[in-house]
Amino acid sequence: MKIAVLGTGMVGQALATRLHDLGHQVTLGTRDVGDTRQRLADSITADIPLATLSDAAATAEIVILAVQGGAALTTLAAAGPKQLATKIVIDITNPLDFTQGFPATLFVKDTDSLGEQIQAALPDARVVKTLNTLTADLMVNPRKVNDGQHTVFISGNDDEAKHVVATLLGSMGHMDVIDLGDITTARGTEMLMPLWMRLMGALDTTMFQFKVVR
Ligand SMILES: NC(=O)c1ccc[n+]([C@@H]2O[C@H](COP(=O)([O-])OP(=O)(O)OC[C@H]3O[C@@H](n4cnc5c(N)ncnc54)[C@H](OP(=O)(O)O)[C@@H]3O)[C@@H](O)[C@H]2O)c1
Repeated sequence: MKIAVLGTGMVGQALATRLHDLGHQVTLGTRDVGDTRQRLADSITADIPLATLSDAAATAEIVILAVQGGAALTTLAAAGPKQLATKIVIDITNPLDFTQGFPATLFVKDTDSLGEQIQAALPDARVVKTLNTLTADLMVNPRKVNDGQHTVFISGNDDEAKHVVATLLGSMGHMDVIDLGDITTARGTEMLMPLWMRLMGALDTTMFQFKVVR
């Protein structure tokens, strides 16, 4: 599939590389192509083209939003809401506010979520929130912990889009995908972040994952 990954931090690089390796036609969208080309020269294969946010989104069937949470809405505005309409937008962001230091607080929670704000900003797009509850390395290499025996979640209003995303997750090795329901359920996975950050402190690693045992 043609996939645009918007954002070139840890998550964007990890997902772009893994999806490219799986045979998808991946483009990395970034705010500044020249700067990012220099920064990623040693870490990303030249087979994955860099493009502006708008150019990356234009040709993609699936757009993955992998930017800092506070920049999610401005990134979508730059990518072009019209050309995102009807596309599947996979939202990996967390609404983390580090202005008061660590652990971060959530700048939206309880009665709203960043996933919902993204869906509201793109009313015709099919937003699916997923993968925001685990570290980038485990997103793309789930078997590195407990042989991949853990759970990832999906939230979104469009069942067909969620099916496509669940299939993509399966191709990356995620074996237990729980569909939580519509996009309002993103509140639940975003509000796991305070626990996730405390677990990181207690375990002194990011290589852990949630598992739902029925
Ligand atoms: N790191 C993880 O393991 C992890 C795990 C789960 C969820 N998440 C979530 O996934 C998203 C991406 O995580 P990350 O660790 O890759 O994030 P990051 O390094 O903090 O930022 C990712 C990218 O956001 C883009 N960006 C756009 N506007 C920005 C602005 N105003 N200031 C700074 N960066 C801006 C930048 O890409 P360009 O410079 O290319 O434009 C940057 O490289 C975040 O929302 C994070 O909470 C991360």
